[in-house]
Amino acid sequence: MILLTTSAHDLERAAEAIREGLLVAIPTETVYGLGADAWSKVALARVFEAKRRPSFDPLIVHVAEPDAADEVADVSVPYAATLAARFWPGPLTMVLPKRERVPDLATSGLPTVAVRCPAHTFARQIIRRSGVPVAAPSANPFGYLSPTRAEHVVAQLGDRVDFIVDGGRCPVGVESTVLDLSSDPPLVLRPGGLPVELIAEVIPGVRVFDRATTSPRAPGQLPSHYAPARPLYLVESARVSDARPSGRAAVLCFGTTSARAALDSGRWARVVDLSPGEDMVEAAAALFDILHELDAAGFDELWAERLPDDGLGLAVNDRLYKASVK
Ligand code: TXA
Ligand code: MG
Repeated sequence: MILLTTSAHDLERAAEAIREGLLVAIPTETVYGLGADAWSKVALARVFEAKRRPSFDPLIVHVAEPDAADEVADVSVPYAATLAARFWPGPLTMVLPKRERVPDLATSGLPTVAVRCPAHTFARQIIRRSGVPVAAPSANPFGYLSPTRAEHVVAQLGDRVDFIVDGGRCPVGVESTVLDLSSDPPLVLRPGGLPVELIAEVIPGVRVFDRATTSPRAPGQLPSHYAPARPLYLVESARVSDARPSGRAAVLCFGTTSARAALDSGRWARVVDLSPGEDMVEAAAALFDILHELDAAGFDELWAERLPDDGLGLAVNDRLYKASVK
């Protein structure tokens, strides 16, 4: 594996590698992606192999410009153009009818393809220079926490990728919101970096996939996704006092009130405050970073309090739920 910087020379090298069918981990505004030429079946197969990912889990295809989505998908379905104009580049993935040319391996044989135009200068430069759409799942082994720093990719997949572009920390910190526009009415399959409230301004009453009442449609909806190696337990929002940790345990709090209560209780070997000012954007940006750190620190248990269920709190709670012991 070769670590690249974000110099023009290195970005060109990364783009060339993608054109050659190699695997390149690239920074995006959400999390690091494991990028490959979306037209190349061999490159796509290598993505699944590197991630040890079951081939039923389809990939997101990334484009450098909103207009380029037309190459891979039918963007004439209701809402697609409006959403693209408003939220691309950005942390929104749209599931759309696929163009025939997109290999089945990218979509796991589905008639639809997930498309996203990321809002990250270096991601866009790499994709643009490569001249191809770039299929990229999050750059973590299947079922493990998503990477928000190049170091996470080095540690988790370093021996299985060709290049890693170090673009520093991912500013959004949780994966994109996945919205299925091929179903009527549209359905949010995965809450993420774009708050559902903003989508609802374009699609009034847009539905959100409910894990409790619906069977999984996208494998990202499997509850065991995004797990740390240590057991993680959840408590309700502002209910850190309900936690009954055993052994050396660390707790993730949201806001100074909770963090102070946790410290005062004397139950915790470590108390982490995701956002002292109770800012959900800040909490989302810090989430995977802190989970990676705590997971490596050798605690017996990890605990976390849920965030309020709106804005980016929905995405954070979804990741916490998936990471938790049921
Ligand atoms: O922010 C992100 O979305 C990151 C960065 C790298 O762009 N990518 C990412 O990819 O999170 P991945 O592969 O880890 O998650 C993609 C999600 C999965 O839950 C997958 O099942 C769903 O999108 N998905 C992909 N194609 C789909 C399709 N045709 N229909 C339904 N769900 C799909
Ligand atoms: Mg993933």
